[in-house]
Amino acid sequence: MCGIIGYCGHRPAVPLVLEGLKRLEYRGYDSAGLAFLQVSRLEIIRSEGKLSNLEEKVAETANTFAPISIGHTRWATHGLPVEKNAHPHKSNNGSLAIVHNGIIENFQELKDELAAKGYVFYSETDTEVLANLIADELDILLVQAHQKTFAQNSPEYVQNAQNSPLQYLELAEKAFASALKKAHGAYAVVLLSPLIPQHILAARLSAPLLMGIGIGEYFVASDVPAFLPYTRDVIFLDDREYVVISAGGYSVKNLFSAECVQKEVHHIPWDLQGAAKDGYKHFMLKEIMEQPKVLQDCLVGRLQNDSVCLPELDALPVPDSIRIIACGTSYNAGLWSQYYLEQFAKIPVTVEIASEFRYRKPILNKNELILVISQSGETADTLGALRLCREQGYPTVGICNVLGSSVAREASACLYTQAGPEISVASTKAMLSQMVVLLLLALYYGQRKQLSAPYAEILQELKALPGVLEKALPTMREKAKHFAYQYAFARSFFYLGRGTAYALALEGALKLKELSYIHAEGYATGEMKHGPIALIDPEFPSFALAFDDENFGKVRSGILEVKSRQGRVIALLQEGTSLENDDLWYIPQTKLPEFLALPAMQLFSYEMADYLGKDVDQPRNLAKSVTVE
Ligand code: AGP
Repeated sequence: MCGIIGYCGHRPAVPLVLEGLKRLEYRGYDSAGLAFLQVSRLEIIRSEGKLSNLEEKVAETANTFAPISIGHTRWATHGLPVEKNAHPHKSNNGSLAIVHNGIIENFQELKDELAAKGYVFYSETDTEVLANLIADELDILLVQAHQKTFAQNSPEYVQNAQNSPLQYLELAEKAFASALKKAHGAYAVVLLSPLIPQHILAARLSAPLLMGIGIGEYFVASDVPAFLPYTRDVIFLDDREYVVISAGGYSVKNLFSAECVQKEVHHIPWDLQGAAKDGYKHFMLKEIMEQPKVLQDCLVGRLQNDSVCLPELDALPVPDSIRIIACGTSYNAGLWSQYYLEQFAKIPVTVEIASEFRYRKPILNKNELILVISQSGETADTLGALRLCREQGYPTVGICNVLGSSVAREASACLYTQAGPEISVASTKAMLSQMVVLLLLALYYGQRKQLSAPYAEILQELKALPGVLEKALPTMREKAKHFAYQYAFARSFFYLGRGTAYALALEGALKLKELSYIHAEGYATGEMKHGPIALIDPEFPSFALAFDDENFGKVRSGILEVKSRQGRVIALLQEGTSLENDDLWYIPQTKLPEFLALPAMQLFSYEMADYLGKDVDQPRNLAKSVTVE
C-alpha cells in the first residue's frame, strides 16, 4: 500500500522526507512525489517508478532548506501509475496539496459536484478530488469570514495568510474536517498549505497513520520506519481523529467535534537495525534466516514451567467454537491451526477468507470466538470482518505483528506475534510466528478446559525448535538453491500436502507464485486423483510434503501416482523415513515438522525468484498491507 510521511521541524525537510519514503518502499509503490513550502510558495515534485527517479528530479530542481514537507509513494488504485496521478495533488487554486492512502468511494459524485462549480481535474485520482473538496470548503469558510479569495499564490494571498496564520489555521482545520466528513471510504490523508505555512494537518479512517514525537520536530507517517532514526515515541491515531503538527508541538482532535483528544505515547522497542538488511542481499532472506530468533521471541513471556500463559485472554470465556478470519498467508496460518485447536482444545474451528466472510451475511454461533489474524493489522477485509463481528457483540481476538495497528486496537484482545518488523512484501517470519501463537492458543485452551493432552511433550518440542531450525537452515538454503536451479524451467507447480501439511502446501504455492511469478497450486494430496492429476507432465512438477505422521503411507502413494505419469517430484520428508523418489529433501525429525518445512519452502521460493532475477522484496503488483478492498 501507499507510503506517507509528513515533517515539521528544524531540519531540511525534503531530504528527510525522501529518506523516509525509502524506508517505506517495502509497502509497494509505482510512483512517488513530495511537496514543500519555498518562501510560502507551494512546490510539488513527482515522478513515475522508483524513488531514484524522484531523487534525481529533486536534485535538479529543489535546492531547499524548507523545514516542512510531505511525501508519498503511490500504489495505484484509481488511475495508471504515471506522473500525473502521483501524489501530492494540489487544489485548482493552489491553496493546498495533499497525499492520501486509501480509496474515496464516492469520489465520482464529489468530482461531478466540483466540476459543476468549475473545478478542473488533471489526474484520474480520487485524491485530486479530495484536494479540491477541501479547498472548496476552505473558500466557503473564507468568504463567510469576510476574507477575499485571492488569486492563487498572489502576494496578497500569502501576505494575508502570514498576517493572520492562526485564523487561517482554524479555518483550514474546519475545511479539512468538513471535507473528510463528506468523503466515504478509507483514507490516511496529510495536508500542506501556504495558508498555514508552519503546520501540517493529517487524518485517518481505516488506513494506518501515526505520529512521531521528536524534540522540536514532529512527523506523521504510514508506518514507524519512516521516522525511526529521529524518534521512537509514537502516537497511533484512531479513526476519525486528526492531528495538527508544527515545529512547536501537536494536537490530536476529533474530526467531528474538533475537541482535543488525549493520546497515549508508545515507545517503539525495536530500532532501525531491526528493519535493516543486516548484510543480507534481501529483506526476505534476512527475515527467513532470523526465524530461529523469531520462534524464541514469540515464546517469551508465554511459557511458565509446563503451562502456557496468555493473560490477554484470561478475561474472555473459553469459547464453544472459534471462527478464524484472515487473508493470504495469514489465512494459511489459520487453516493450519484448525488441526491443533481441534486436537488439543477440542474446540470446533471454522476458517474463513475475510473478503468472502464479510459479505456472506454469516451465521455465527453462540459463544463463538472471532479470531482475526493479520501481520500488518491493517488489511481492509480482515478489519472489515472484525468490525462486522464486533458490532454483533462477539468477542474478538487479533493476532498481529504491528504494535498499535487497527486490528490490535479494535479487537477485544490482541496477541502480538513479536516477530519484529517484516519489511519484505512476501510474508515469511510473520507466518511462522502466527503458527507459534496459534499452537500456544490450542494448548492454552486445552489447559483451561483441563483436558489431557501431550502438552508437556509438545512444549518441549516447541522450546527445542529454535535450535533445531538454527542448525538446519544452512543445509536448507543449499538444498533450496539446488532444487530451485534444477526446477527453474517449470511452467507450473503443484504443492501437495495432507493433514497439517495441507495448509503449508497452500502457503508454499502462494510463496512461489508471488515471488517467482511461476503458477503454483496448493492441493490436498488425496485430491490429486480427483482431477488435477490430469495436468501432470514433465514440465509440471510437484513439491510434496511427506511428514512422518499417520498420513505418510498415503502421501507416498500419492507421490507414486504423480511419478507414474512422468511427473517430477521434490519430496520433502523427515530424517528416518524414505520413499522412492529422485529428489528427496530431508529435514530433521520433530513432532512439529511444519516449523521446519515452512522455512524450507520459503527458501525454495526465494532462491527461485532470485535465480530468475525477480524483485524479491517488492514483487510486482503486490503491497505489504492491502488497506483497500
Ligand atoms: C503474504 O506473502 C502476502 N503478501 C499476503 O497474502 C498477506 O499475507 C495478506 O495480504 C494478509 O496480510 P496481513 O497478514 O497483513 O493481514
